[in-house]
This record gives sequence, structure tokens and C-alpha cells, in this order.
Amino acid sequence: MPIKENTRMADVIHMNYLLLPILNRFDIQLGFGDKTIKEVCTDHHVNVDFFLEIINSFNDDDYFPQTHLQTFPLKLIIDYIQKSHNYYLNYKIPQIESLIGKLIEHSDTSQKKQMELIEKFFQEYKEELIIHIQNEENDVFPYILTIDTAFSLRKIDDTVKKLVHEKSIDFFVDTHTNIEDKLYDLKNIIIKYLPPARDYTSSNALLFELFRLERDLNDHARIEDKVLVPKVQFLESQITGVLK
Ligand SMILES: [Fe+2]
Ligand SMILES: [Fe+2]
Repeated sequence: MPIKENTRMADVIHMNYLLLPILNRFDIQLGFGDKTIKEVCTDHHVNVDFFLEIINSFNDDDYFPQTHLQTFPLKLIIDYIQKSHNYYLNYKIPQIESLIGKLIEHSDTSQKKQMELIEKFFQEYKEELIIHIQNEENDVFPYILTIDTAFSLRKIDDTVKKLVHEKSIDFFVDTHTNIEDKLYDLKNIIIKYLPPARDYTSSNALLFELFRLERDLNDHARIEDKVLVPKVQFLESQITGVLK
């Protein structure tokens, strides 16, 4: 049963606490008392339909209203994606780094070497993630917002058409790498090969966080690939007159 607008927000968190960071991306914090989703969204000026589709699709892998999600404005979709990027870079990555640091600190000499290899692996992953996000933030999203504005203002001239030709979202599709797989490899190394640590609570915490990040990134990539991309492809076809 999908979560509905008359569901109490507190019940949503009781049902799935992993939704809490998703709420934060809409600038919704704890302390909602007995208010329903609709009431909380109204208080925070959040589009309740969009909010429901986002939390339902995160909550249930089989729930993915691709066509309905594509009806929301590009600005709204991109804003949500950018908030997720901030969460990964400013909160999740530092949190995982600090757990790895803790494990290194509490390792004996034999474990230290392996932990340092894990740290190196994660640093490489972090660099890859930063490049991935920077490309979207600095190149892809500004392009999308430019053509979206031009289209809504009905200012489709040769410059806009040229831009679509040069920057087409299809280039992004060709290069949009899967950044989740490497996290799976890291989890696998930790589960299978990391020697038993003295500080096993930190190694468990590290694994939990990697699982959470991986799940979040999977959901994130699904929105980019299955909602954002087709929506931009349709917009481009309206600008150029060529249906894809
Ligand atoms: Fe992204
Ligand atoms: Fe991406």
C-alpha cells in the first residue's frame, strides 16, 4: 500500500526510518507531532504529490511511477537531485571517512595495512563520485535549465537549437556511469576479507553506512535515468521538432 497524503508523518518514520534523510531533502525536520503528510508539506511549501512519489519509490523498489514523476517540473526534479548530491558529499562521505579513520586508529599492526587499503579504495571512490556529481551540477543541469527556460518563455531561436545539438542529453546517457557497483565491491571486501577487528561495532557501522549509501544512490540513479533523461529528451524533441 503506497503512503498517502493523509498518513501521519510520524508513522512514515516508524514504518521506515531510512526515509528520514529523504524528508530532510525537502527541508522537513523532526517535530511534526501528529500532522499528516499533507499538513507538513503545506507548512513547508512542499509539493505534496511530488513528495509522495519520491518517498513511495524510495520505500518500495517495485513502486516507480515513471510517467507521473515525469510530469513534475524539471526545476523541481533537479532541485531534489541536487539536495541528494549535497547529502552525499557533505554528510555521507565524511561520515564514512570518519568511520574508516576510527577503524584504522583501533587496528593492530596486522589489520592496519588492510584498513589502509580500504581507505585508499574509498578515497578513489570518493574522487569518482565528486567528478560524477560535478559533471551533473556544472554541465548537465545548467544546460537542462537553460533550454527549459527558453522553452517555457517560447524563446526558441537558433542559439537554443544549436545548444541542444551540441549538448544533447544523449551524450549524458552515453557517459552516465554506474557509481553504485564500486560500493558493492567495497562492501564485499569488508564482509569477506577484513580480518576480525577489535572494534567490531565500528566495522558494522561502516558496513551499515555503505549499504545505506548504495541504496540511496540506486534510487538516485533511477530518478536521473528514468525520469530526468526521458523528460529532457522529450523537451529537446519539442525544441528541434525531431522526435527521439
Ligand atoms: Fe546525480
Ligand atoms: Fe548520476
